[in-house]
Amino acid sequence: MKKRTLLFATNNPHKLREIREIAGNDYQILSLKDVNLETDIPETRETLEGNAIQKARFVYDQTGINCFADDTGLEIDALDGRPGVYSARYAGEGCSFDDNVRKVLEELDGVDHRKACFRCVVCLILDGKEHLFEGRIPGEIIRERRGSDGFGYDPVFQPDGHSQTFAEMPAHLKNGISHRGIAVSKLFRFLKNMEHR
Ligand code: IMP
Repeated sequence: MKKRTLLFATNNPHKLREIREIAGNDYQILSLKDVNLETDIPETRETLEGNAIQKARFVYDQTGINCFADDTGLEIDALDGRPGVYSARYAGEGCSFDDNVRKVLEELDGVDHRKACFRCVVCLILDGKEHLFEGRIPGEIIRERRGSDGFGYDPVFQPDGHSQTFAEMPAHLKNGISHRGIAVSKLFRFLKNMEHR
């Protein structure tokens, strides 16, 4: 089969590594850097769906290359679904992953109900047409950081049915069960089905 090319609308090296692992050998996954598009991509909508579409549409309009974008939110029950769509900048503009984790741990200080869910929406634009895919993984926010792999809230998120946080898991294990892994696997299944039509 001829290798297909898809542009992934991200500047996040962790995400890029994850997606390349999931995509395997059938697809060449380009990053924004690979196409010299290193401008800030607008992400101003109030929903994950809205942001994923906005990012993918922006990149498609700039490059004309079939592409996809993701947007993820960590939804914590005891915080009424926060940080949700604001997960990247929860502790304020320009904050670090560590600042966000600290804020969440502070807000959950003394709280026993620690259920949370990572939700990811991926928007694929194929020949100008939008397709949406969603992935969710339920889990809980543990009381102290554990593990040093991954990024974002990984050190404090322990998926249900597992004794390790995302930051303690080998990449292939996280990718097999994660919100983004699920959404992107749906995307590649969709592409495979299109090819066999
Ligand atoms: P994004 O808008 O999809 O980049 O996601 C927003 C924020 O959610 C990121 O800045 C991270 O803090 C967090 N996030 C997204 N995906 C993950 C993940 O796989 N693990 C941990 N945190 C994540």
